[in-house]
Amino acid sequence: MIAIIGGTGMTKLACLEISNRRVMRTPYGEPSGPLTFGKIGNHEIIFLARHGYGHTIPPHMVNYRANLWALESFKPTRVVSVASVGGIHGNLMPGTIALPDQIIDYTHGRKFTYFESTDRPVTHIDFTDPYCSVTRGRLLEAAKQAKEKIIDGGVYAATQGPRLESAAEINRLERDGADMVGMTGMPEAALAKELGLCYATLAVVANYAAGRGTSEHLIRLEDVHSVLEKAMVNVRNILEQLVNLDGD
Ligand code: HPA
Repeated sequence: MIAIIGGTGMTKLACLEISNRRVMRTPYGEPSGPLTFGKIGNHEIIFLARHGYGHTIPPHMVNYRANLWALESFKPTRVVSVASVGGIHGNLMPGTIALPDQIIDYTHGRKFTYFESTDRPVTHIDFTDPYCSVTRGRLLEAAKQAKEKIIDGGVYAATQGPRLESAAEINRLERDGADMVGMTGMPEAALAKELGLCYATLAVVANYAAGRGTSEHLIRLEDVHSVLEKAMVNVRNILEQLVNLDGD
């Protein structure tokens, strides 16, 4: 079973035949909404809208721990997160889909670990490769079969939000080596690692990052929504191929 976390632009999965929804409680509180169970073709899927089904939970208020804990309890073979980003690298124009292979965390004040009790030995997870290479490989293959273009690799900068960045902040992220910027990549990726989940992110470029391209002076949110609406069709094509490749 594959789990999909939908981000901005993907509060539901049009290709999913829903069988039931389940409200979950976890030791970390409630996830962003009930988990949605259903099928794509003949394959079982769990879907969760990261920002809630009405898109009301801002990135810094998402209960990432509860979301991943709830998904993990169904032992999914992999977790694919869909996340919108701003493009910093020249290749990453609005509408492009990328598969980041690295991440830098600029968030703060979020609940970022499951390891916080003082009565167990201290645990340090390895985070050299933040994303699961097997899941990344499957997504590349799925994109190829779906004839959808995808950019393999890139550094995701996770910012705190909910505001967008200043042009100078984007210049700094670029100097740090970031190719794209989003607000939800962390602590999601680290928590997935802590739980041993095979997790990867399909990053959908919604806009040029602040100060770049058509965002030189302003990021127009109307444009962002229409770009995402179109790109989600491509994302769905990739996900449909992924479930076919993976089976149950
Ligand atoms: N910055 C941060 N997060 C984002 C952006 C951006 O420009 N676009 C979509 N998510």
